[in-house]
Amino acid sequence: MRQNSSSLVVVANRLPIDDSVAPDGACEWRRSPGGLVSALHPLLRHTPATWVGWAGGTGPAPRLPDIDGVRMHSVALTAEDLRDHYEGFANATLWPLYHDAVEQPVYHRRWWEAYQRVNQRFAEAAAAVAEPGGLVWVQDYHLQLVPGLLRALRPDLRIGFFLHVPFPPPELFMQLPRRAELLRGMLGADLIGFQRAQAAHNFAQLVVKVLDLPATDRRIGVDDRVVRVGAYPVSIDTAEMAALAGRPDVTARARRLRHDLGDPQQVILSVDRMDYTKGIEQRLKAYSELLASGHVKVRDTVLVQVAVPSRERVGQYQILRDRVEREVGRINGEFGRVGEPAIHYLTQHFDRAELAALYRVADVMAVTPLRDGMNLVAKEYVAARVDDTGALLLSEFAGAAAELEQAYLVNPHDLEGLKQMLLTALRASPDDVGDRMRAMRAHLHRHDIRAWARSYLSALDQTGSLVTRLGSTG
Ligand code: G6P
Repeated sequence: MRQNSSSLVVVANRLPIDDSVAPDGACEWRRSPGGLVSALHPLLRHTPATWVGWAGGTGPAPRLPDIDGVRMHSVALTAEDLRDHYEGFANATLWPLYHDAVEQPVYHRRWWEAYQRVNQRFAEAAAAVAEPGGLVWVQDYHLQLVPGLLRALRPDLRIGFFLHVPFPPPELFMQLPRRAELLRGMLGADLIGFQRAQAAHNFAQLVVKVLDLPATDRRIGVDDRVVRVGAYPVSIDTAEMAALAGRPDVTARARRLRHDLGDPQQVILSVDRMDYTKGIEQRLKAYSELLASGHVKVRDTVLVQVAVPSRERVGQYQILRDRVEREVGRINGEFGRVGEPAIHYLTQHFDRAELAALYRVADVMAVTPLRDGMNLVAKEYVAARVDDTGALLLSEFAGAAAELEQAYLVNPHDLEGLKQMLLTALRASPDDVGDRMRAMRAHLHRHDIRAWARSYLSALDQTGSLVTRLGSTG
């Protein structure tokens, strides 16, 4: 056996850490609260594992301490890799294309070269740390070539691939200049997981059309192998969020926040990364029209919009931030009063406890993306509503809508529908809100992050050894 090798290797673009400066100026590492990271953390804590990923920044790969017993193996990105792989092919080509092309995907040959180069580096890093016959789980759209590259290096491994974002219909995917290579890269895996069955269907159709391989929505024949495909909707650590939200200090903090907001009758909350897929502008427009028509009044109702800056060097994100900030300024200028803004707009990162307090304050949580792979914020809100109150306004185009059917579902492109459904959620009877919330909470209680990991990994690991270990984590 190789020295320091792991039976489970997670490969993701980002390591589960943030670099932050300690009071004495030293750099320290801590677990970051991002979606994917929160999703996998509870699983890895209980398994001898290595996480292969990028530590952020450019330059040589830093040596990092283990976090909660999980080995951190960092992969270096140069300034050019950052520009052409992360900001370029991953976030200006694939990201918009996979989200219904709500912004125009950009194609550059140089970006594709960087994507190949960086994927090769990640595949080599995973090959170096996985034990013979080990299990490697590759995550997300940044690394779609890794399964194929890794199989060429280490045919002994079992390889899984999971796509956290939507997988587009053939009409859109066919735009990609290197579509065949991307599909072949994914087919290096033994099991390809998507958030929704529709994505698995899109993938199978493309494999037939582009690669002329025999495929159903569940099984694809590649050379002498069978690649399995399925939907595994990702989830959250439901119990952890509920426990956090129920803590006395968080409850007290929520009360204080409500007071600081002017003790309004109703608080609407949105928490997003600043991303054009999240439907922030459409939501602001709907809210502004409700203020203008007098259906919603400042003082009775406040909107808290958390929009955490993201991918700030990508042009489309800069333009979006400018537009959102101009619109928030306009709405506050027009409808706010001294000491009573119509929108409380925050671009800071919140720690988990503060986020949980915000969820506790929100009578209506508005999660209205134009397209979203899952949206874990919606699930976190439900988990945090420990007293079974609170209305979730949820876009039909979020993966979460397939599970949280009792949410107030809405088409965010339909401005009138969005306004109407926001009013419905604001005016719903406590009984209706309670019934819906209880049903969603029961669903999340059963379908939490451990259930997700167990179902994906038991399908991947047919010998069952890893899953047995997971079973004992409770
Ligand atoms: C989405 C992606 C993740 C990504 C996250 C944050 O949820 O599916 O892979 O890590 O956004 O984006 P960032 O570019 O900051 O990693």
